[in-house]
Amino acid sequence: MCGIIGYSGHRPAVPLLLKGLKSLEYRGYDSAGVAYIQNKAMEVIRAEGKLSQLESKLDSCNVSIALSGIGHTRWATHGLPVEHNAHPHKDNSGHLAMVHNGIIENFQELREELLAKGHTFSSETDTEVLVNLIAEGRKDNGTLLDAFSWALGRVEGSFAVALTDLNEPGVIYAARQSSPLVLGVGVGENFVASDIPAFLAYTRDVVFLEDGEMVRIDANSWAVYNAATREAVDKKVDHITWDVQSAQKGGYKHFMLKEIFEQPRVIADCLTGRVNGSKEIMLPELEGLEPPKRLHIVACGTSFHAGLWGMHLMESWAKIPVSVEIASEFRYRDIIMDPGDAVLAISQSGETADTLAGLRMVKEQGVPVIGLCNVVGSSIARESDRVVYTQAGPEISVASTKAMCSQLTALTILALYWGLQKGTMAGQDVEQVLSGLSSLPQDLEKALPAIHETAKDLAREYSSARSFLYLGRGLYYPLALEGALKLKEISYIHAEGYAAGEMKHGPIALIDPEFPTFAMALNDGLFPKVQSNLVEVKARNGRVIALTHEGLPLEVDTSWVIPELIEPLNSFLALPALQLFAYETADYLGKDVDQPRNLAKSVTVE
Ligand code: G6P
Repeated sequence: MCGIIGYSGHRPAVPLLLKGLKSLEYRGYDSAGVAYIQNKAMEVIRAEGKLSQLESKLDSCNVSIALSGIGHTRWATHGLPVEHNAHPHKDNSGHLAMVHNGIIENFQELREELLAKGHTFSSETDTEVLVNLIAEGRKDNGTLLDAFSWALGRVEGSFAVALTDLNEPGVIYAARQSSPLVLGVGVGENFVASDIPAFLAYTRDVVFLEDGEMVRIDANSWAVYNAATREAVDKKVDHITWDVQSAQKGGYKHFMLKEIFEQPRVIADCLTGRVNGSKEIMLPELEGLEPPKRLHIVACGTSFHAGLWGMHLMESWAKIPVSVEIASEFRYRDIIMDPGDAVLAISQSGETADTLAGLRMVKEQGVPVIGLCNVVGSSIARESDRVVYTQAGPEISVASTKAMCSQLTALTILALYWGLQKGTMAGQDVEQVLSGLSSLPQDLEKALPAIHETAKDLAREYSSARSFLYLGRGLYYPLALEGALKLKEISYIHAEGYAAGEMKHGPIALIDPEFPTFAMALNDGLFPKVQSNLVEVKARNGRVIALTHEGLPLEVDTSWVIPELIEPLNSFLALPALQLFAYETADYLGKDVDQPRNLAKSVTVE
């Protein structure tokens, strides 16, 4: 995920681009850059790190008052977050400069094709391939608009791009396919950007671009075309009434809510390029690495819960013995490692001090470490022998939601990958899971609004509780832990997650009408066991919310029915129910949802 902006108008473009990028920094901030035309040359200034680094660099450049340009803030996907991979990228002639958000899946073959035609590349990015492809297309296709359309027709994947050309100063081209892009219509100035806040200070008139559309802007005109046919498309101009703050949240009240609703896209992004229609899982990151004889998963917080969930899949599909360890404990134990063991360090931020220390400890013993991280170029990603990225995009809310969803997706892929390598999975199971995964983003998208509505109602009903018990078994035990963690993190209501079968060994003493239970009672092989645990709770006058599937016999206060998929994919619908219940409770109680007291997004201390 990255942020892009393009401007043409009457104001000095560079400061305007920087201001716009500042509001897009939530989309990524590992490097940034701008391109503008000065003294008849295409200037590209880029810097590694946050936007402030680029600002300092520009302070020392003699930036003229260019009146148009493009800008980018990056969240690395292809290539490390270093300056030569930062955007904008130029084509070999130096006439074109481009910024890109998204992933071009067939960039490798296009790169080879262009290399054969004599193009050279100075970065590892897919973007540099696209800008050179456009330059190549211009040789045969006349205008830049034609070449742009031709090149877009050749790329597979997702993109929002903006392009500027030395031969047409003051003109910006842009296009979108599965990545956001909006057009801002001003007076004597026009904008394109990944998100409205990037230009909201200058205009509230916007045109929402659709997939497959491209746009040309200059200071005084704008036009939208069908990217394939180059025919003009009639577009409506909408007037925005939101303020900047809420627009950054895409109209959602909090980042947490926005991130919960981003989960269908997160699953799709994590699957992209890894799972295709056939019975094949592609994880080039792990090529040449044997499936481990034994796997030690090491993580903290929500990532630890994801690890516990993944253990079930590794064991039943790949037949790999797994232990899941809290990193702060693991790092101080005398762990016995055998030849063939591997460690999987799970961390959204890739910076959690305890997980990093655990990783360093086992690396000293020569144990191979695989990092499962969201943030590209983070410490855990860099220090692991191999790294699998979860590709969830930056998570702003301190309480982790979409990152966990991406971790569950990546763990599913990993267990399938090793299961297929070892031949331990029945072909029928593989087919079923693959087909379930391919429709999972749409299934979740469809289910989310109703789950949200129920979460709102239940939050109001139960918000006076002082304490909550979350119960689950099997795959739903880690989710019960996560549900309890979410509730306590943001609503400050005490909550305990327990293995449902363990309840009778202590927590049952707490059950009374004031101590509600949130049960994970979904339709898996363990449902009858959970059902009897809930009978025990009801017999002690405990109130019960049960997250369940249609038609399951339960005598509880609230049956919260969610659509049923195949196992283990039901977890992907159960997780947002838990997240939304915690979110709605915290919001109803007036808590600071995105920045709860005492917590930090990235815990880099022990
Ligand atoms: C902090 C965050 C949690 C997160 C945990 C582990 O406590 O508040 O949301 O789950 O760290 O973080 P990691 O970045 O390693 O996944």
